[in-house]
Amino acid sequence: PRPVKLAPSLLACDFSRLGDELRAIEGADWAHVDVMDGSFVPNISFGLPILAAARRASPLFMDVHLMVDRPERYLRDFADAGADGLTVHVEATPHIHRTVQQIRELGKRAGVTLNPGTPLEAVRPVLADVDLVLVMSVNPGFGGQKFIPASLERIRTLRRWLDELDSPAELQVDGGVTSQNARAMVHAGATCLVAGSAVYGEGGAQAGLERFREALK
Ligand code: DX5
Ligand code: ZN
Repeated sequence: PRPVKLAPSLLACDFSRLGDELRAIEGADWAHVDVMDGSFVPNISFGLPILAAARRASPLFMDVHLMVDRPERYLRDFADAGADGLTVHVEATPHIHRTVQQIRELGKRAGVTLNPGTPLEAVRPVLADVDLVLVMSVNPGFGGQKFIPASLERIRTLRRWLDELDSPAELQVDGGVTSQNARAMVHAGATCLVAGSAVYGEGGAQAGLERFREALK
């Protein structure tokens, strides 16, 4: 089996101590950065200056999840601010294939994602062109929501489609992931787990990461 990556979501961290909160997850694989525009999703999180600050504070891979309408307008800005990977929603642009190509042309890892209510077929045409597919296991917009159980079957289906293509793309899950349900995601075929409240919650991020490591042993 391939190694599982952990990507703690900064959305759940204490922004007044961003540097410390990043250092606390240096043992993780990626930092997940949730950008929300108040239009594609009913909440506003943060944008370019916070990503740039995180970039200055940490050498971690910055995995940027754009919950933004027409993300193609901002790809270069996010690349310049320090993104290593950019993940865009298939619902947010009429030109998902072009948008993925634009991310690639910027030299960044290209990810595609979809809301829980969007049929998986929506991402199938670009599967061969992406470095990451993200299964949203909650409706995007807020941290701390409950995992939607039907997401497991969606992970299994995407695992099959990626394997059929012999694709090395990461299969990422985001929303309601905890140290209790992490193993089930990996068994379904996920290779990268995003977790916000389950990492930055009780006892701080180092303890949170340790709980995941134990669970995935
Ligand atoms: C939700 C975000 C998630 C969020 C996950 O819209 O995309 O990345 O931070 O938070 P938890 O792990 O608390 O569900
Ligand atoms: Zn996210």
